[in-house]
This record gives sequence, structure tokens and C-alpha cells, in this order.
Amino acid sequence: MTSADRHFGLTGLATMGANLARNVAHHEIPVAVHNRTTSRMQTFVEQHGDEGPISGYASTQEWIDALATPRVIMSMVQAGDATDAVIDDIAPRLDRGDVLIDGGNANFRDTQRRHAAMAQRGIHFLGVGVSGGEEGALNGPSIMPGGDREPYDESVKPILEAIAADVDGTPCCTYVGPDGAGHYVKMVHNGIEYADMQLIAESYDLLRHGAGLEVPEIAERFRSWNESELESFLIEISARVLAKTDERTGQPLVDVILDAAEQKGTGRWTAQNALELGVPLTGITEAVFARAVSALKDERVAAAGRLAGPKAGGAATDGSLVDDLQHALYASKIISYAQGFAQMAAAADSEGWKIDLGSMATIWRGGCIIRARFLDRIREAYDDEPGLDNLMMADFFRSALAEAQDPWRRVVVRAAELGIPTPAFSSSLAYYDGYRRERGPASLIQGLRDLFGAHSYRRIDGEGSFHTLWSGDGSEAKS
Ligand code: 6PG
Repeated sequence: MTSADRHFGLTGLATMGANLARNVAHHEIPVAVHNRTTSRMQTFVEQHGDEGPISGYASTQEWIDALATPRVIMSMVQAGDATDAVIDDIAPRLDRGDVLIDGGNANFRDTQRRHAAMAQRGIHFLGVGVSGGEEGALNGPSIMPGGDREPYDESVKPILEAIAADVDGTPCCTYVGPDGAGHYVKMVHNGIEYADMQLIAESYDLLRHGAGLEVPEIAERFRSWNESELESFLIEISARVLAKTDERTGQPLVDVILDAAEQKGTGRWTAQNALELGVPLTGITEAVFARAVSALKDERVAAAGRLAGPKAGGAATDGSLVDDLQHALYASKIISYAQGFAQMAAAADSEGWKIDLGSMATIWRGGCIIRARFLDRIREAYDDEPGLDNLMMADFFRSALAEAQDPWRRVVVRAAELGIPTPAFSSSLAYYDGYRRERGPASLIQGLRDLFGAHSYRRIDGEGSFHTLWSGDGSEAKS
């Protein structure tokens, strides 16, 4: 099949959908577009119709009829009810063997439900994560497809690989796994995005209120970090955001933006799922909570003059904090990726998916929001040891953490002394220290549980469950 023979239907022409449709057309793949509000489709065709083989349809039926079978149709509408509404509209008009793709940020449980419902009708439903924002959608996103493998390979793969970003000739798109696996991986990608941004925000806060740097100096610092092992899209755009001056006031724009972060849900879902799986996902979860604290703007304003902070303080003058931060940021970033990858492995076990973790690192190297130089290192770590329990244990990351740990500890200590909250830095360090501990204090927790609730405990020197008669003579009962 040549690219000219491929047909692609796309509905939902908001920013991401419109840019994705243009991207498809730029690859000379005929794209038939549709939108619930017809005027948006018409405007899109007027503005972009000459960029490639684009045709627009007002009626759903005419749009569906225009596509060669097996049809390949992608929905780019908002996750949730809007996606269900599109499916309800389209599915009854499709034939067995057609492929319906949801490219929104759907919850993977919804994708599993939709996949099962479509399978009843003989329709192949693919849940596809698409990352890269508007620019990525247009020029090459990172794509995480999940669902039935055969129809994906036959009808969808050539199109998605053509429009995806590529790094060193490798497309940033690979089949992830059955039913909800693609959307699952996209969810974890977004969770890592939350943690990355929280770590960047904590660094900014410490550079400004701990080390006393001005905003343009901080922008410069991020620029130089982007030439180090921290090189990544989010570090690069942090420098750009910090360098921006507000036209209305002449102040740094960051000073006039309200300090209350919003969220659409993917970070929260990642944390909720981690709790369900019992995976310690501290960095991402703290990032979600930090957004929640930021949203308590009125309460924070009321508390600011009333809750006491540290007496001593002041800026660190010797610049050591500035240098230490680079290491703390790198180490904490390693932790959040280690946790995110551990969660994907746990989900794959629990859902019966086979997710190739090295390939996930490969497709995140370009196009997506968390693209970063060190994803190559993650890929190499899984190439060397596909069954790796935790990324921290790979030689490269083990040495990186060992090298960074002293400055990382100093940053967390200094932040606590200064009263500057660093939930992501601190929890990442606590995770590192917890993970490398051969014997921790949970024996006491087990003792307490047994005393107040006869919950029993296991011993280090034998099999079985034990209960102690705490108020009697202390003798043990084996249960
Ligand atoms: C991406 C982004 C994209 C979206 C975030 C924003 O990969 O292109 O992750 O999906 O910008 O979901 O999420 P919040 O609004 O929750 O921050």
C-alpha cells in the first residue's frame, strides 16, 4: 500500500485534531475531516485545504461513506463524555473490521470499556496516546498506540509512523500493548510530566528565594542546565517562560501569572492507579498534591501572615545552593522516571500486558513533552537488562545517584531550614533512602498492628504468621 492509497478519517478539529490532520495531509495521506460543529470544519478546510489531500464533510454519514474500507478513523475530541458521544454517533455506521482510534487523553479504564464494547460489534478500537502539544501534533508527536495488534499493523502503523517525530531515523511511535495499554503509558508520561514540572518549579523557588537570584538570572541558569545532562524540552521552555517580560507591567511574566496550577486529571489518575497497585510513586503524587496546595490560594494568603516560618534564614550567599541544585534536580528526575517505569511494569503484570519498557523510553526521546537527553540512557539500561527491577539499579543511574547524593541532601536540608517547600525533591530523596535500606522500621508498624488488632506478623527466622499475647506473658501464638 502506498501512502496515497491510505485513507484517514479524523473528527474533532480543536487545536490538537486540526494540527494532526494537517500533519497527515503533509505526508500526502488523504485525510477526510469532520467536526460536530460544521463551521469549524469549514474554517479548517478554508485555511488549510491546500496543504495536502484534505476533504471536509458536514454530515457524519457522508464522511464515513467517503472512507475506503477497512476504515481508519481517529477521534480527537476531549476525553470523557465527548468521546463517548462521538463513538455513539460513529460506531453504528461502521462495518466489521473498521478501525476506530481514540487519540485523546482517555482514562485507560474507559479505553478498556470502549474496546470491549466495540469488539462486540466487530470494530477494532485503538486507544492511542499522543504527546507533544500543538507543535508536536503538527510536526511530529510521540505516539503510544494500544489495542488489537493485527489491525494496527495492517492499517494504522504506516500512517502513525509517518506522522510521528523521529529520532536518529527511528519513529517515536511503537505498539504498546492490548486494550488500554497505550492510554496507560500516556497517562504515566503525563504523570512524569507533572513531576518534572514540579521539580523545575521547586528549583526556581530555591534559586529565587533561597539563593537570591533575579528572574533573568534564573532563566540564564536554566539555559545553561539545558546544555548539561538535564537537557530536555521542559528545561528549555522553562528558560523561555522565565525570560518573558509582561508587556502590560514590564515585570517578568512569571510574576504576574496567578500561582495556582490547574490540572485535567492524568497526573491524578497516575497517582490513584499507583495507590491501587501499591507502587510507591512519590514524586508524581507529590506533584499532584503540590498543584492542589497551589490551588488553595485564598487559604494560603490568609495563612501567610499567621503561620510562623523559620527564624533564621536568608539567602545562601556562597552560590553553593545554585550548584547543588543542578545535581538535586538530576537525581530527583531519575527517581521520578524510575518510579514511573516501575509503575508501568507493575501495571503490565496486573493487566496481563507485555510492555517493552525500553521501547517506551525510545518513543519518548522525541516529539513528547518529557523528551530528554537521558531517555537514551533509560533505553540502554533496559537493553542491557530487560528485566530490571528498578532503573536506579542500572549501573549508569546507580553511579549518577551516588555522585549527586551529597548536593541533593544539602538542597533538601537547606530548603527545610529556609522553610521553602520541596515536596518532590524531599520525597524523591526519601524514596532513594528507603529503597536502599536493607532493614527499615516497618517491623514496629507490624508490632503495633498486632497489638491493637491481632493482625499478626511474619518473623525473619521462620515461615508462618505469628501473633503475640501482648497483655499476657508475651508468649507467641502461631496462626
Ligand atoms: C502532552 C501533554 C498534553 C496536555 C497535558 C496537560 O503530552 O502533549 O501532556 O496531554 O498538555 O495533559 O495536562 P494538565 O492540564 O493536567 O496539566
